[in-house]
Order: sequence, then C-alpha cells, then structure tokens
Amino acid sequence: MLIDTHIHLDLYQNTNIDELVDEALQKGVKILIDVGIDILSSRLAVKFAEKYSNVYAVTGIHPHEAKFVNEKTLEELKALVNNPKIVAVGEIGLDYYRNLSPKDLQKKAFLAQLNLAKSLDLPVVVHDRDAHEDVIKMLKEVNFPSGKVLIHCFSGDVNFLNEVLKMGYYISIGGPVTFKNAKKVVEVVKNVPLERLLLETDGPYLAPHPHRGKINRPVFIPLIAQKIADIRGISFAEIEKATTENALKFFGIKV
Ligand code: NI
Repeated sequence: MLIDTHIHLDLYQNTNIDELVDEALQKGVKILIDVGIDILSSRLAVKFAEKYSNVYAVTGIHPHEAKFVNEKTLEELKALVNNPKIVAVGEIGLDYYRNLSPKDLQKKAFLAQLNLAKSLDLPVVVHDRDAHEDVIKMLKEVNFPSGKVLIHCFSGDVNFLNEVLKMGYYISIGGPVTFKNAKKVVEVVKNVPLERLLLETDGPYLAPHPHRGKINRPVFIPLIAQKIADIRGISFAEIEKATTENALKFFGIKV
C-alpha cells in the first residue's frame, strides 16, 4: 500500500473525484491526504475526508494567501481544526519565489499557524520555496517539535537537506524527481534516510514523467516510488514499506 501525502482535491476541474479516489485504491494508493490552501479549500478538504474513509484532511492557509489572513481567518481555522479526520495544519510556510503576499505577512501567517498547530499537538505540512533560511529560523524560534514537521515537495539542495535532517524533520518527494532534467532532487533522494521520506503527487499539479504537463493523479504515485527505488538501487517494495510507515506515523493514522 502507498500513500499520497499531498493532494488538492478541490483544485481538480472536470474530474470525477469518486473515480480519482477509486482508481487510486485499485492501484494500491490506499490513503490520500487532502491539503487546504485557504479557509474555503480547507472546508472542502474536511468534506472530502468526511465523504471518503481513506481521505484525510490538512487545513491551513498557504503563504500565497497570507495577505488575506486576519483574526477572523485564524478563528475560522481554529474552529475547523477540531475534527478527527484533520491530521495536520498546512499547507503553511513561506514562498519567496512567487512572493504573492508580502514577506512580513507571510511570516505573520506562518507564525500564527505554527503556534496553532503546536497548541493542538498537530504536525505541520510546510511549503518552502526559496525561503529555506527563514523557514528553519521560524521553526526554531517557536521550538516546533522535530518529528512533527514535513517539508513538502522538497526543493532544496543536499546542504539544506542535511540541515532539515539535523532538525529531525521529514521531507516529501513528488513528480519532479522523475523529470529528465532533475538533478538537485535526485541528489536529495540519494541522500535522504528512508525513515524520513514520504511520497506525494501535489495533484493536480506536477504530474510525473511520462505524464508531465498533464493533470496529476494519485494513481501516478507508483511512478514516483519506482523512480526513487531506481535512483537508490533498491526495490519498489522497500520504498513502499518505508514511505507508508513514515506517513502513517507522521500523520498519526491508524489502519
Ligand atoms: Ni500543495
């Protein structure tokens, strides 16, 4: 059994979600973690989690949306989070690549949500794009519990990986590792200990080779697992076992 630890079900258009979930199940991708990016999509993630027994929700405000965060947003998020199918706060973090919200507001929203997660004893799913230093700095500042941080769609180099590992965090790897021009992420995959690695699609985005540019689906998770197995020269079964155990442990899901 495999787990897609990062998907945005609400962002699929013209797609039958029943079929998407079902085809994943047929191919052994048994659990999907549906991640919110704002209040509306977080509410939808909870709805999907309530509808499908094998879907769990992560709720939070993405750094792109940080400029819209106010007291009320945080209250709404807090009210939402008290649900047994919510397994983390996310995706939260910093994005200095697209800078769709001013940096100071991104930091403010990230900090508020780190504190919320900490107070609820929930893990966090972190979005980090060209903001490695500040992400680590803020996690350190709030003294966030080490085993409860997942850096999703890891885009750093091996140096940053080492820093993340030293902190005791997890990383997740998706479609980009299969791209023909992938170099940095291939090095990361060679160097990450198996007990810190999770798999994700980030669907509907970032479909793996040979589906690059098309709509990503959880059914493509085996392609990512196989590529990682090839890079490391180990079996698919080993990747499957390790990443599934890690995901269940990280999100506190019992099967
Ligand atoms: Ni995402």
